[in-house]
Amino acid sequence: MRCQVAIIGGGPSGLLLSQLLHRAGIDTVVLERQSRDYVLSRIRAGVLEWGTVEMLREAGVGARMDAEGFPHDGTYLACRNEGFRIDFKDLVGKQVMVYGQTEVTRDLYEARDQMDGKVIHGVEGVVIHGADTDAPHVTYTLDGTEHRLDCDWVAGCDGFHGVSRQTIPDTVLKEFKRVYPFGWLGILSETKPVSEELIYAQHSRGFALCSMRNAHLSRYYVQVPLTDKVEQWSDDAFWDELKRRIPAEAAESIETGPSIEKSIAPLRSFVAEPMKWGRLFLVGDAAHIVPPTGAKGLNLAVSDVHYLYHALVQAYQGDDHGVTHYSEQALARVWKSERFSWSMTGLLHRFPDRGDFEARMQEAELDYLQHSRVAQMSLAENYVGLPY
Ligand code: FAD
Ligand code: PHB
Repeated sequence: MRCQVAIIGGGPSGLLLSQLLHRAGIDTVVLERQSRDYVLSRIRAGVLEWGTVEMLREAGVGARMDAEGFPHDGTYLACRNEGFRIDFKDLVGKQVMVYGQTEVTRDLYEARDQMDGKVIHGVEGVVIHGADTDAPHVTYTLDGTEHRLDCDWVAGCDGFHGVSRQTIPDTVLKEFKRVYPFGWLGILSETKPVSEELIYAQHSRGFALCSMRNAHLSRYYVQVPLTDKVEQWSDDAFWDELKRRIPAEAAESIETGPSIEKSIAPLRSFVAEPMKWGRLFLVGDAAHIVPPTGAKGLNLAVSDVHYLYHALVQAYQGDDHGVTHYSEQALARVWKSERFSWSMTGLLHRFPDRGDFEARMQEAELDYLQHSRVAQMSLAENYVGLPY
């Protein structure tokens, strides 16, 4: 088999890249290890930057998001039982969209089906060959049979645990990382969200977040030690802990109910450089991970896709500038989102290895944010998404 761009991974970045390239007349094959149902069962991000919204529209997959998503003009931060609002619209003239990653992925799969896009599920043993030559190819096994896919370029959209990053020699690749000593325990429940906008709460017992998917579906998180197991957390224990950490007014009015999903995600910051090796590009979580506190993971994957899509279109028009400079261009934005996610994580979580001084520093920073329009503008500018 032959195609112009072989895409490893059928998560949001692989599907979006495939959809955009197909519409530009560039043919792709997406190789995904899991089944479609499995990919669609993963509950992940919930907040889209406006740049992401526009990219999805450009890809022709914005209709359901525009009909069913919720534009938010601001968010609440809470500390010591008191909340204050960051008004994105007033501060920087922009909004974000609440629309789950599961829905984005579903819309992308449907669009790929409609265009007869090639997405092959259940592939095993993917190996990228000759990425540093002019004629790369990918081999994989499907139902016990070995296949070969020849291509011009390979897009590694296969997430943090994929093969693409591992294909780049150790002598070339440099990795930067920080692992946080806690995780987020998250639940999804068919209850009315406690607030119309998200609440990020800093508390001496640990961070909490009130988020949502729609008017009847809430997503809540609490910071937990890495040693905690989901099975230790009954729904009642979760609700009790959440209520302790959010402002009393919200705690008193919150609607509780059974969880329909419950999981613990570890928090980490990670960047791999460079994001290109020969004819192989790394995209999204394959190249970088952020702690979810700034809601940046999915949005960063989309901005990588933006740069790579334009670079490949240019390359097929005879201009190699974009593909040559993809790594520097993408990394410049990646590091700024890494910085924002790291600083929001530092501002809002309880660090077991830090003392009272650092706790006071967090409180002082939140107090400063509450009363400084300049500080709020900086947070808002980053939260709604830096320009591409
Ligand atoms: P992925 O979504 O990881 O997709 C990669 C795909 O590649 C997967 O479908 C995988 O099955 C496939 N794959 C992997 N290896 C291979 C292989 N060898 N061969 C073929 N296919 C392969 N972000 C937020 O903003 N907010 C959140 O609340 C949030 N929660 C998260 C919770 C978890 C548990 C995780 C893991 C991530 C979370 N994120 C969150 C981050 C966000 O979901 C990711 O940034 C986003 O999914 C990145 O998209 P991607 O397409 O680059 O990678
Ligand atoms: C979510 O709704 O899952 C969500 C929202 C905001 C975040 C992280 C996760 O910062």
